[in-house]
Amino acid sequence: MEQVSSPVDAVADNQEHDAAGSTALKKVFVKTYGCQMNVYDSERMEDALTQDGYVKTDDINDADLVLLNTCHIREKAAEKVYSAVGRIRKIKEKHAKQGRQVTIGITGCVAQAEGKEIMRRAPAVDLVAGPQTYHDISKMVARAEKGERVISTDWLIEEKFAKLPAPTKKQTIARGLAAFLTVQEGCDKFCTFCVVPYTRGAEVSRSVNQILDEANRLADAGVKEVTLLGQNVNAWHGSLDGQKWNLGELLYRLSDIDGIERLRYTTSHPIDMEQSLIDAHRDLPKLMPYLHLPVQAGSDRILKAMNRHHTKDQYLQIIERVRQARDDMAISGDFIVGFPGETEEDFEETLDVIRQVKYASAFSFKYSPRPGTPGADLDHQVSDEVASERLTRLQALLREQMTEFNQSCVGKEIDLLIEKRGKREGQVLGRSPWLQTVVVSGDASEISKTLRVKVSEAGPASLNAVRI
Ligand code: SAH
Ligand code: SF4
Ligand code: F3S
Repeated sequence: MEQVSSPVDAVADNQEHDAAGSTALKKVFVKTYGCQMNVYDSERMEDALTQDGYVKTDDINDADLVLLNTCHIREKAAEKVYSAVGRIRKIKEKHAKQGRQVTIGITGCVAQAEGKEIMRRAPAVDLVAGPQTYHDISKMVARAEKGERVISTDWLIEEKFAKLPAPTKKQTIARGLAAFLTVQEGCDKFCTFCVVPYTRGAEVSRSVNQILDEANRLADAGVKEVTLLGQNVNAWHGSLDGQKWNLGELLYRLSDIDGIERLRYTTSHPIDMEQSLIDAHRDLPKLMPYLHLPVQAGSDRILKAMNRHHTKDQYLQIIERVRQARDDMAISGDFIVGFPGETEEDFEETLDVIRQVKYASAFSFKYSPRPGTPGADLDHQVSDEVASERLTRLQALLREQMTEFNQSCVGKEIDLLIEKRGKREGQVLGRSPWLQTVVVSGDASEISKTLRVKVSEAGPASLNAVRI
């Protein structure tokens, strides 16, 4: 699930504005780990820093400021951060000999969970900032550059979104045709395996107006596909003109924005699959027929121990209702094998869910006990050997289903939003409504156009298509 931030553009929009007061612009390198919310946050921090005198660089050796935006979801997360800091420290020391200062900042979920520990164990780190403090990133960096070791892990989520500066139109254009838009952050669900409620805090929804403003700004900069983000995106709720809205209502409204051609959202929780969201899939052609709905496990006993608040049958019924609303829905999921107490029979229930749902795509993990979560203290932890063996079986089944799904697309006619050049000359790429990469012949002048194509072939990582 690890993702790296998109390549950064080397020239900032507003070079004349240099908060540091020096003539040479400082360079920031950001590395992003974890989920799409971190990708979004990294972009917003880059927006703030470039408006305060930084330019982005994709060369870590050339950076004056290195930010690691970290993830805490599974084991070895913190270790990865410490070893990355070790490597950056060497660059820092080399530059120091030449009289050049390099500032190292740790942000994201490891910063929130282990900020003090990081400061103690890694003296090379100058700044630790949790996910709710990014609106102050420029100020914190300025203090760190003056020699202070800054740590900020407060919970200021409303301020974060209200105060983070919007990207300039040029910055948005440089990021391409598809954009993320965080609408909700945090989690109140407390699944017993998960650190997110502790690293991101309670569920908070951004206001309708804030979201519509941001979506309009994206559309104005030529963005055609918007993915709404939230740890529990379908728990989003808001109100406009005295009317209470949930994610379904919001999607109807976003669908009215000219220029935005495709809408997606992730990640959803089964217990928040409201009827209006399902109706939106029936009614809105712009809402892509794709649902990422993690189930984690199939056995009711394990679901209960995980505190998921639903049974296997309830999950299957939701999938059924969603498919009734739109029969071409592709379903994706997350699975954990080897949760404490999981027996072979329990695991078979998970395989049974997979067989019944037929997933188009999925993420699957071995259970990783996380310090501070209730799961870590449970008896009957499953051995690594057993968990590995179950994961292998589960992934083999999922792989089969993904291949089947890709094959089932051959012959279908689809609208393809062309996003970039392909690897080979004379090819361009886009994504299908079901998120697969689709390759078609064409040239760069067609980027941002929507072409009608027919899928001709399914490869392991992408589909090929021909124009109609
Ligand atoms: N909010 C989302 C997902 C958050 S984390 C949801 O509720 O579905 C993304 C995925 O990481 C989870 O769906 C889960 O499958 C996996 N995950 C989270 N904690 C884990 C742990 N301790 N061990 C293994 N996998 C974990
Ligand atoms: Fe973690 Fe569960 Fe919240 Fe998802 S719903 S973020 S898995 S606690
Ligand atoms: Fe990781 Fe934090 Fe996202 S723990 S998955 S970066 S919410």
